[in-house]
Formats: sequence, C-alpha cells, structure tokens
Amino acid sequence: MAEAKVESRVHGLGHSRKRVEDARFIRGQGNYIDDFKLPGMLHLDIVRSPYAHAKIKAIHTENALATPGVLAVIDGPTLQKYNVHNMPTLMSDIQMVLPIDTVKYQYQEVAAVLATDRYTAARTAAVEVDYDPLPVVVDPFKALEPGATKVRDDKESNHIWHWEWGDKDKTDQDFNEAEVTVKENIYIPRIHVASIETCGCVAKWDAVNTHLTLWMTSQAPHAIRTVVALITGHLGLSEEKIRIISPDIGGGFGGKVPAYPGYVIAVAASIVTGAPVKWIEDRTENLAADSFGRDYHITAELAGKKDGTLTSLRFKTIADHGYTDAAAQPSKFPAGMFHICTGSYDFKSAFVEVDGVYTNKPPGGIAYRCSFRVTEAVHAIERMTDVFAQKIGMDTAEIRMKNFIKPEQFPYKSALGWEYDSGNYPAALRKAMDMIGYDNLRKEQAAKRARGEFMGIGISSFTEIVGAGPSKDFDILGLKMFDSCEIRVHPTGKAIARFGTKSQGQGHETTYAQIIAEELGIPAEHIKVEEGDTDTAPYGLGTYASRSTPVAGAAAAMASRKIRAKAKQIAAHLLEANEEDLEWETGRFFVKGSPDQGKTIQEIAFAAYTNHPQGMEGGLEAVNYYDPPNLTYPFGSYICVVDIDRGTGEVKIRRFVAVDDCGVRINPMIVEGQIHGGLTMGFAPAMMEEISYDENGNIHGANFMDYLLPTAVETPKWELGETVTPSPHHPIGAKGVGESATVGAPAAIANAVVDALAHLGVTTIDIPITPRKVWEVLNVHGATLEE
Ligand code: CDP
Repeated sequence: MAEAKVESRVHGLGHSRKRVEDARFIRGQGNYIDDFKLPGMLHLDIVRSPYAHAKIKAIHTENALATPGVLAVIDGPTLQKYNVHNMPTLMSDIQMVLPIDTVKYQYQEVAAVLATDRYTAARTAAVEVDYDPLPVVVDPFKALEPGATKVRDDKESNHIWHWEWGDKDKTDQDFNEAEVTVKENIYIPRIHVASIETCGCVAKWDAVNTHLTLWMTSQAPHAIRTVVALITGHLGLSEEKIRIISPDIGGGFGGKVPAYPGYVIAVAASIVTGAPVKWIEDRTENLAADSFGRDYHITAELAGKKDGTLTSLRFKTIADHGYTDAAAQPSKFPAGMFHICTGSYDFKSAFVEVDGVYTNKPPGGIAYRCSFRVTEAVHAIERMTDVFAQKIGMDTAEIRMKNFIKPEQFPYKSALGWEYDSGNYPAALRKAMDMIGYDNLRKEQAAKRARGEFMGIGISSFTEIVGAGPSKDFDILGLKMFDSCEIRVHPTGKAIARFGTKSQGQGHETTYAQIIAEELGIPAEHIKVEEGDTDTAPYGLGTYASRSTPVAGAAAAMASRKIRAKAKQIAAHLLEANEEDLEWETGRFFVKGSPDQGKTIQEIAFAAYTNHPQGMEGGLEAVNYYDPPNLTYPFGSYICVVDIDRGTGEVKIRRFVAVDDCGVRINPMIVEGQIHGGLTMGFAPAMMEEISYDENGNIHGANFMDYLLPTAVETPKWELGETVTPSPHHPIGAKGVGESATVGAPAAIANAVVDALAHLGVTTIDIPITPRKVWEVLNVHGATLEE
C-alpha cells in the first residue's frame, strides 16, 4: 500500500476512502436512465433487420398503427425530410440513423415504433417489412478480394483506409540481417462490452423555450452536445439550447462514447410530439447492434539475435470495422494507439501497417476498456515475445528481462515515436516472480511434463499508454482532448468541484475529492463532486481510455493550486504578513518561524467573502483546462499458471499474480477494485467471449446463453502486488489504471496455455481459449488422454 502523505482527517492521496457513491448504489438508489419517468413520457422501440444485407422494398405500418397505444412509426424517409437520417461517426464516416432503402447488417435499425408505454412500443413485429436479400460479406479478407460484394454504394471498394507508421526501410533491413525471425497470425476477435446497463436516453423537447434536455448513457456528454448541435443546427437546435445530462451509468467501457441511432430518433420523436420520449435497448439489441471492440487480424513478425536480443518488429493488420467506420479513435490515428506495440522492449526499428475494411457487420472499434487499440497491441507483442523465446529455447522471463527498456533510459523514445514518461519494468517482473515463486514453478512444470501432465506458466509484462491527450496530437472530430475541473470554495470552507469527465463506476466522486483535499486541506467529505451535466460542468471530452486521472485529475490539482495561490494572498492580508513569509501545511498557512500565527483554509475561505483585500476579486474559485504535456505509461507484470485437462481440454487457472504500477495511487482500495474488475474483463475474452457471424451475417452471441460472461464461479482468485513509479509530468505523479488489467491479462493467460503445449510444437492459439479449441490442438498432436 502507498504511504499516506496527508493527515487522515482530510483523506488526501493514499487513503482507501470508502466510495461515497456506494451510499446510493448499494441501496438501489442510483439514478439510471431507465429510472426516469417523466409526466406524459412516450416510449420508443426499434424495428430491426433480420438480414445482414438487403433492399427494403416496403415497410407496412397499418397493423402497427392500428394497435391501441401506438402513435407513430418513424422510418428513414421521414427523417430524411429533416436531413437527420444519417449522422457522422467519430471517424467522420456516415452512419445511418434509419435506412432509406438498404440495410447493411443484421439487427440494424429499420424503423421505430412510438407508443404510450414500453410494452406496446416493443410490439415491433406489427411493422411488416418486405426485404430483398443481397449477397453478404463478413470476412474482411474476402471483402478485399476483387469482385467482392460491395458493402457501401457510396464507396469505391470495401477498403476504408491504409495507415502506416515507423521506418519501413530500416525495419526491412533489420529483418534481412537478423539471426532469428518469427512470424504468426494472431486474431483478436470481436467482443462486446456487455455492461450491466444497456444504452438508452430520455429526450425532452421544450417547444416554448426551444430547448432540448437529453438524459443519456454517455461517457462524453460535452462532445455529444457539440455533435448534436452540428447535426441539428440547421433545424435551429443550436448548442446553448441543448443540455445533455449523463446520470448514473451502469458501466460504459467505451461502449457509451459514440452516438447511436436510438438517441437521434428519440430526439426527433420528442421534437415532433412535444412529449418526452424514452428509448432503451433490451439485452439482445445491445449485444447485437452496438458497443463492439477489437476484431483485429494481425500478422506479427519479430526479428532478433540468437542470444535473445530483440531488434525489430513488423506488424500488418486487417481491421474489420463493420459497415461504417465508427471506431472511437483520435482523428490523427485511425488505428488508435496500436503503435505502442513495441511494448516494454527496446527495439531498434519497427513498422506497422493497418488497413480498415468494411463488412456486413455492425460498426465496431470502440475502445473496450482500453486506450483505443492498446489491448490489441499488447496482446500481439506479449504473445510474440513468447514465440521468439520458444524458437531460441529461452525462458520467457529471461527474454523479457534482457529486452526491457531499462529504468535509466526514461524518458524513453520508442522506435515508433512515443515518449514513455517513466517505468521500472524489471522491478515489476521481479516482484511478480517472487510472489508466485517462479523458479519452483518451472521445476514443477518440468517434473509434471515428464509425467505427461500439462502445466503452463505465462507472463505478460505490458506497457499501457493512457491520458489522451496532448492537444497537439489528440482530438476527436476536431475537439481537442483536454479536460477540466472547476472548483468553488464556499464561505464556510466547503467546496463543490465539477468536471468534464463522467464516471461509470470508477468512483470519481470519491477520488477527485481526495486530490483536492490533498492540495487544499479541505476534508474530502466536504468536497462535493459533480460530473455529467453540460449546463453546469466545464467542457471536457469525457471518461474513457483511462484518461480521467491523467487529464481531469491533473486539472483538479491545478485548479486547487490556483485557489491555494489566492488563499495565500488572503492569508497574508489576514495575518498582516508578507506572502513570502508564509508556509503551507495541510489546510493552513502560517508565518515561518511562528507556527501559532496561522489561518486555516476555512478561515481564509470565509474571509474571501467577508474580508478580502481591497482591490482583489471576492470569492474563492478556479477552473483549469488541462492539456497534458504527454501521455502516462502505466505498466505491470502478470504471471498466470494453468493446468490443462488432457481429457477435456479444460484450462484451469491455478494462480494469477498481477503487479501493477500506476504511479502514485490516489485511493489504493479503488485501484485494487479497478484491477480486480479489469483482470476479470481480461480473463473473459481470453477464455470465453467472442462475437462471431455465420457466412450470411447472422450473429452468434446476441444473448448471454451464447455470449459467455464469467461469473464468480469461473473467475480465478487474483493476487495483487504493486510498485510505484510516479509520472514525472503529472502534477501528483499519478497514471491511469482503469484499463491496465484488461489490457495486460489476456496475453498472460494465452501465454500460459501455449507454454503448457509448447513441447508439442504449438506456438500460438487464438483467444478465446475454449476447452474445445484446446482439445482440438491436443487431438491434432495426439496428446488427448484416452479412456
Ligand atoms: O478514466 P477512468 O476513470 O476510467 O480511469 P482512471 O483514471 O484510471 O481511474 C479509475 C479510478 O481509479 C478513478 O477513481 C481514479 O481516481 C482511481 N485511480 C487512483 O486512485 N489512482 C491512480 N493512480 C489512478 C486511478
């Protein structure tokens, strides 16, 4: 546990303060979208396509409209009259709100039923749609073949873009000169965030004041407000007339960053009817239509020496984006931060290429609990490091220790141009090895192998990249990715702080208050934190990609410091002393050498409203829009031990040790909670979760019978450790942590399974590693246990 720096009474940094949010969450008093019930509220449900690609010949609404309680059926041509049938995606592509004549994926929105109650609205089957099925393409490699079915009529082919980064010539040369090269195809399948709460909204149009209030499940309410204004400005709905409120959110994980058609239809329906309109997805709609991540086909190559030195990396990726490029990436980087793929290792050269492809699938590419494409990058490099070690017969811990960027190399510029802020990778791996007893495990493995038992040990020594981002490089739809904090200290020394971010369960109300408590000495319990209301909070780009602590957390410290600077002036006035003669201790300025002569922050706050120096502005408040100078680079080393049942192919995770370093920990208990949840969300795609499609584009996995989420029964026991390497550029030395474990865990598990099978000649196995997949590998190698 990190040492507490500030007296416990203020609950500053390093205190495992209980989450203030839990008072309402654990009593069932949270305020989620589906809890909203406004007078006269109407309900919307969506008619969805059974086909992955089809012409719409006709939409028959008579039966639906004859149903008591049904008020209207909205279709694409209706929206087209107001030019809101399409909307821009976060990558400036076009997404249909409702189609005019063609659907492009199964479960796509076709029309919407507006009714007086939820259950009547849900009778969408009463809307009969005549379709003419069209050929379907779901495989991105086939989509790139000449003559392939074209997904988009408005594009020349299914190829969306080509993006490359790094020094190709130097990389090719290093590969040509290498003593050892390895190459594997790695598929990181499409998965779904599957948050407890699905997506939804309540739109309330006030015709008298021409004002829209939209309560919605958004991780980025300010950006959504701007996008709504840009889409609907021609209808007179300008930005000051739009208020977005994100209430409590039941899990986001990136899935609640984009705008979805349901939001736009609900707004249109409220404007037309003048009544509040609620839209909320059911589970199948959520699992089938939005919030998908990953879907990267990576051809990965490493080059190096026989002694285990890695020299060069070359990755080529086909990225399946579905029918539109709605990926949530910073504009400049269509493959997000995939070029962090050199990971924790000191490569001399590297080159990555990514090609985006359209297929007849729903849009994918959301940053599912990862900083854009970091999970894909980490999985590929951590798997390939093992592949290289296996080829030269080196221990997987040893190859990592040999190639790690050394502590003295920080700040370190990677071969792909990122400047890593700080790190001590050998210390984290050493700690994880000590915790798990690595050397003994290797001895046990050898003995078991001799007895025909399959046991594997997998390591993942990942580096994350979080805190987008410096505005020189990072924007979404042109909006720069800074974030904000506004603090007002009230006369009695209590405070309210508002942020441009939006918690979805991370505990911001607790931890932001701790940062301010540390800086101002006001007890955290007297600092109210608010987020999510665009009418009151300062502008910010929201919470995803573990950016809240690196960006808004920094803004909290900087705004506090502005307040402390003013407080010092007021204290000098009250104490009739020079500012230079004052010293600060937690919550109090005092005269150097005379500790009794001092003023508390509470006394100073009161004076700011009652007795401030003449000529000074009254009040005690500040705002900071923080534009980080760099990203933060949390890291960790995870070690997983598995036993494989040769009869069934079942993989049992016996132990999993996770040593994380996120710099200074604000609230160790919350950090541990984030890591526990993150590890479970890394275990899930490693072992169970996948959204796949048949060749007709029918989804497998649109319900929890087919899309397997881990429960407490399957989830391993996590053993946590920590090292603390502060970020040198963050005001309080903190790095993000929310996503590290999801990013780092899958490779540790996959590496452990391959390690268990390596002596058979197995070099790779794609996630999810299901018992069937493992059994088939065993079977191919004649290694299944016969009766
Ligand atoms: O952006 P998001 O909130 O998802 O991620 P984060 O910045 O990594 O923070 C997740 C939670 O962990 C927040 O409540 C943070 O305040 C807390 N945290 C912490 O206590 N110490 C850190 N060094 C990093 C995060």
